[in-house]
Amino acid sequence: MSKTNRSAGIMTTAIHAGDPPDASTNASAPPIHVSSTYVTDDLAGFSAHDLTPDSPYVYSRWANPTVAGLEAKIAALQGTEACLATASGMAAASAIFFTFLSAGDHLIVSDVSYAGVAELARETLPRMGIEVSPVNMSDLAVVTAAIRPNTRLIHTETPVNPINRLTDLVEISKLARQAGALLSCDATFASPLGLDTVALGVDLTMHSITKYIGGHGDAIGGAVAGSAYLISKMRAEAGIHHGGILSPFNAWLIARGASTLPLRMKAHEAGATAVAEWLEADPRVSRVIYPGLASHPQVELAKRQMSNMSGMISFQVGSAADGERIAQQMIERLNVIHYAVSLGHHRSLVFWMGTEGLMETSFKLQGAQLEDYRNFAGDGIFRLSVGLEDAEDLIADLDAALG
Ligand SMILES: Cc1ncc(COP(=O)(O)O)c(C=O)c1O
Repeated sequence: MSKTNRSAGIMTTAIHAGDPPDASTNASAPPIHVSSTYVTDDLAGFSAHDLTPDSPYVYSRWANPTVAGLEAKIAALQGTEACLATASGMAAASAIFFTFLSAGDHLIVSDVSYAGVAELARETLPRMGIEVSPVNMSDLAVVTAAIRPNTRLIHTETPVNPINRLTDLVEISKLARQAGALLSCDATFASPLGLDTVALGVDLTMHSITKYIGGHGDAIGGAVAGSAYLISKMRAEAGIHHGGILSPFNAWLIARGASTLPLRMKAHEAGATAVAEWLEADPRVSRVIYPGLASHPQVELAKRQMSNMSGMISFQVGSAADGERIAQQMIERLNVIHYAVSLGHHRSLVFWMGTEGLMETSFKLQGAQLEDYRNFAGDGIFRLSVGLEDAEDLIADLDAALG
């Protein structure tokens, strides 16, 4: 699998891409450029459409050196020509939808996804005259049947939050090509280390960089990586016009985190494997869904598609009532793991999500789609983001909380 924009090894890339010594001071560590505006010596145009990759810095909503450094690092890690950093992962999702969809267009979206994306697609886009079909992306026949003449975008998420169901990106990318649609993928759960989305045929790869890429739970941000052409369209529309850009302070923090991403992902995977195996062997746990386990329903796809299984585990402890009881015990008993939303941090985080609540607020699945969800994930799920602590300490914590 090729990484089109990477000539060095992955560790070297993570550390050095976008972070050369500072040209004005020779500082080895990157400075933070906070200036909102730049002194200019030419009569540069002031339209989003005047911006080219060679344009001098004019105003930080157009481009900022610290943010540009992070964008170069993420593009190099994901193997794309370019990247747009955004104010949050949600801003990255909206940037994709609002740059590439117009009234009368049709979007096919995963019927299970990060709840914010699910709600944006189901509630906001139809108000803008965009047709939306939420489908089970692990069922190729269903995706094929959903394609319409006006399908412009297929938006996937793999592994999907919160149930770790996988999408076969190669197959979906073939369908997108045939339909003349773009394929975007939210690869937040996998990180750039887990999915070589360029080789798998994805046009636009988005991340909540709040998660693995930043890695330390101290900065919210988002990113979309893709071809220079597609990213320049997004920079003009979503960045300059809609204005959801990343601040230089957050870009600096997230770039520092991203420098150790390859090492951290190896450790997340090792820790999650140990915890998932322990959970699976425990009789108090009724189901464990982790792409690195032989029991994952799509284990062959996981092996073929993922180069790192990440640190995200979904598990169940019986009925929804059992889940609620154990969640309460977690709140009272956990010492190391934080009972909190979010994921991909160095600290382990766990959160319980009831199927009924998720359906009412976010996914709104019925009939066969609801059945598919329940068959895969049961009734209520714990989402555990395994951090970088010692696996024995996490296991001891879970053991006490499971009571
Ligand atoms: C898969 C996925 N995509 C997008 C988002 C949204 O990211 P943010 O919270 O940075 O807006 C999240 C947040 O949890 C997520 O898990």
